[in-house]
Amino acid sequence: MRKKIVAGNWKMNKTFEESKALMNELKEKLGKETSEKVETVVCPPFLCVPSANEIFQGTNIRFGGQNIHFKDDGAYTGEISASMLKAIGCDYVILGHSERRQYFHETNHLINFKVLKALEKGLKPILCVGETLEQREQGVEKKIVDEQVTLCLKDVCAADMENVVIAYEPVWAIGTGKTATPEQAEEMHVGIRKSLENLYNATVAGRTRILYGGSMNDKNAKDLLGKNNIDGGLIGGAALKADSFIAIIEAAV
Ligand code: 13P
Repeated sequence: MRKKIVAGNWKMNKTFEESKALMNELKEKLGKETSEKVETVVCPPFLCVPSANEIFQGTNIRFGGQNIHFKDDGAYTGEISASMLKAIGCDYVILGHSERRQYFHETNHLINFKVLKALEKGLKPILCVGETLEQREQGVEKKIVDEQVTLCLKDVCAADMENVVIAYEPVWAIGTGKTATPEQAEEMHVGIRKSLENLYNATVAGRTRILYGGSMNDKNAKDLLGKNNIDGGLIGGAALKADSFIAIIEAAV
């Protein structure tokens, strides 16, 4: 049985004070029983990660970063290492988000290095994959996502897959209000499990958690999360308000 995860990707939103206010509100409003049933993860901007460490102490709410560099440390101005995130209490890190692929030219090859570094340092990667609208219109979405999964997981051993979460985020659904239908998402999640079975085995494919991301909100969450192969959500816009984020977590119970 795969425990569901609902993770909030705050992207480049919220000042330090705003972050603290939202974290405190989440802590106050999220029922203990709900947070025991659904793994809740918050990924704020780096600057606010130490606040998450303080505010979420003693709760079931986990937190993470939105990126790392693939090297241990060194002269990489503006970058953050896996060890830095681990030392401040992060459990997770989002890797390969389409915005990083699109605006920062991250390739599957680079993302693979980051996945390996995260695992080496004890962080759980939330590996994002997903096709563009153009690729879907060309009918190559399954091939693209299979390629992303395969290349980004190169050299990741079966045992380490226990700490990897995959997020299917069709680029055309991110921040557009245009969600994939539950059937479209389910179909791709089944495809991702097939890729994992080819890369590893049926056990790894069956236990890896695959999240959906892309305009998930309190209205559509129940239908999406009701599908057999959708094990949670990676939430952007709707994670920026405590009430809508909590409604999604409750829909995952
Ligand atoms: P939205 O929920 O705003 O569409 O963003 C999804 C996303 O990119 C999460 O990583």
